[in-house]
Amino acid sequence: MAPLNRGRVVVFPLPFHGHVNPMLRLAAALHGRGLAVTVLHADHCAPDPAAHPAAFRFVPVRADVPAGLMASLDVAGVVTALNAIFAAPFKDRLCELLVDGDGVRCVVTDVVWYSAQTAARELGVPALGLMTSSAASFRTFVAYPTLLDKGYLPVQESRKEDPVHELPPFRVKDLQRVDSSSLAGFAGMVARVVAEARQSSGLILNTFDAIEAGDVNDIRDNLQSIPVFAVGPLHKLAPPPTKTTSAQDRAGCLEWLDAQAPRSVLFVSLGTVAAIDAREFAELARGLVGSNRPFLWVVRPSLVRDTSGKLLHPPVAGVEEEEETRGGRGRIVPWAPQEEVLAHPAVGAFLTHNGWNSTMEAVSEGVPMICRPCFGDQLGTARYVCDVWQVGVEVGDRLERGDVKAAIEKVMGGGGAEGKVEVREKMKGLKERTDECANEGGLSYTALTDLVDLMLSF
Ligand code: UDX
Repeated sequence: MAPLNRGRVVVFPLPFHGHVNPMLRLAAALHGRGLAVTVLHADHCAPDPAAHPAAFRFVPVRADVPAGLMASLDVAGVVTALNAIFAAPFKDRLCELLVDGDGVRCVVTDVVWYSAQTAARELGVPALGLMTSSAASFRTFVAYPTLLDKGYLPVQESRKEDPVHELPPFRVKDLQRVDSSSLAGFAGMVARVVAEARQSSGLILNTFDAIEAGDVNDIRDNLQSIPVFAVGPLHKLAPPPTKTTSAQDRAGCLEWLDAQAPRSVLFVSLGTVAAIDAREFAELARGLVGSNRPFLWVVRPSLVRDTSGKLLHPPVAGVEEEEETRGGRGRIVPWAPQEEVLAHPAVGAFLTHNGWNSTMEAVSEGVPMICRPCFGDQLGTARYVCDVWQVGVEVGDRLERGDVKAAIEKVMGGGGAEGKVEVREKMKGLKERTDECANEGGLSYTALTDLVDLMLSF
């Protein structure tokens, strides 16, 4: 381990699982290159210090977060509120660290923490932003005013299949959609994000050349004055968190997988935020059970909501009962150690919502995808998976049991063998190119070296 004498970097993740994970992986990668790390964090989704290097310092940033805010599905509303609520407490904590004379070289915040970027700049601390989603998603942020001007947004039903000429390969329906009523708020939020990125000391992207070279170059052209580092996939550039898998996860998932044939299991998970309605849940369940293949399905308690957003209790017992009468090939769990599951040789495909972390975890383990994006960047990521990288198939906008079965068959089964072979072969090639990027001397590895050099120059 390199000696910790190269100064300190302060990181501030957005308090959601899909954002905290990549930020802490970045922190671990920087730590591995000799930088000391302080993690400023909100109480929500607070990281477990035991899971990270003992030398990491964890400092809570306390603020009055209204009850229910973190569960709201209005992304722009939540992000805007969090920026307002945390601006002053973040600045206070950062000030204290500076007074401590701890050798703070720079701050890395989630790119959407624009108020923290402003605060760091006001205190004279170089600030960099981490984009935890795709480069394509950041390009969408940059292009948002054009998308509005040209009438692509709000999305009109009649134009859903039209190509977005300014943002290939997206069709209108792949764009980050929000209701007309939330559009102004969302546009305002992305404008702040892009404006702060332009004034920052650098933009860090959790992506890599093999999947988004064109998008990264486009961002570089656009943000000419700041350096852009494509250092992904971060979970491959940093050592995994030290926390061992819980006994429950081991028995519930990994030991069960150990007993399955190679590449026979479909892993199903829609991430940590997305929800489906009761009809979709029932259709998905029927499709999985009807596929007659082993499946491992993560049904977290917040997976099913009604149209007003109210949480419904997922009827897991009914599905388990039905599955049991048909031979009991499936298993339902409330949470899975996803990275380990995807790396398990028994897993043959992944039905996913295409959250950026899930997508990159699948790519780096070479697991073909069945795409069921739910909202935001997930829609565009599914487009890349199916049409650009061609390592997955779509299951359709509305979950229907027949479509679920057909998609599973296409990726895993005998019928549609052509599709199966092609998707698997493409995924094998993409996994190899991913490893090349992340391995010593690869483009992402070198980009991380460049990033550390920049930090040491502050
Ligand atoms: C959110 C947004 O919804 C998404 O659009 C954006 O790209 C990232 O943030 P989220 O639902 O958290 O996504 O999904 P994802 O990005 O895939 O991250 C989920 C993380 O949780 C992954 O690292 C995954 O490995 C982990 N996870 C999820 C588990 O370890 N176990 C589970 O059971 C579920």
